[in-house]
Amino acid sequence: MKKTVSTFLEAKGKRKLSMLTAYDYSMAKLIDEAGIDSILVGDSLGMVIQGQENTLSVTIEDMIYHTKLVSRGVKNALVIADMPFMSYQTSVYDAVSNAGKLIKEGGAVAVKLEGGIEFLEEIKTIVRASIPVAGHIGLTPQSINALGGFKAQGKNEKVARKLIEEAKKIEQAGAFCIVVECVPEELTKIITETVNIPIIGIGAGKYVDGQVLVYQDMLGMFSDFTPKFVKRYANTGNIIKEAIETYIKETSEGSFPSKEHTFKIDKELIERLKIENN
Ligand code: KIV
Repeated sequence: MKKTVSTFLEAKGKRKLSMLTAYDYSMAKLIDEAGIDSILVGDSLGMVIQGQENTLSVTIEDMIYHTKLVSRGVKNALVIADMPFMSYQTSVYDAVSNAGKLIKEGGAVAVKLEGGIEFLEEIKTIVRASIPVAGHIGLTPQSINALGGFKAQGKNEKVARKLIEEAKKIEQAGAFCIVVECVPEELTKIITETVNIPIIGIGAGKYVDGQVLVYQDMLGMFSDFTPKFVKRYANTGNIIKEAIETYIKETSEGSFPSKEHTFKIDKELIERLKIENN
């Protein structure tokens, strides 16, 4: 069944939503076929696809390109595209114009942007253009330099109060859900209970309305570092490496390809060609 923004809003308090990232057609298709509620084309692609140290260099063109690939592979999941660094921080005009590109060119249904109180005007204007917006608070990787690293947020009173306030304001601005990243779970519980839109947690504990993970992390495909909150559901990285090692071995010893992976041709024709070319 096709998942929509209404699916998200209706799920609050009834069932937990599932979300994973994807960045290309094949993976999006697999994740969608598994029955996920939503696929996030995250700007985490800067790290897990492009091999950068952080997400800051990801461009709107990168996001449009990967969103297109993902949208082609998805039948049912709600596709949300991340707005990359400097695609909405510069002006309200840039925000709505770039959000529009992710929908019109990328084929996303909704966009996500990081930050709270600072970007309420941007959220309102994008929503006014009929584009659903997901908020993102807590650890916001685009603010890595201002935050001083990838650290849990909201442990002190000032930031904890700010996060609760931000969630309320983002809801009032018209967002349909909020991603809360790397926040202690008791604090996330208060946020979840305070707003009427779904809270999707990543490193935010279990008192949320849904979870999101980067697929390379949960499938064991990214070894540069593994955040504390990641559960490895499979060690796909090892499975891939073993398969490639077997392929290299069989190729070098000549046992691949065998008859079943080879095309046939008429024997007489081959004999004639051999004679002609001798
Ligand atoms: O970019 C991303 O993948 C994200 C998730 C970590 C929520 O924003």
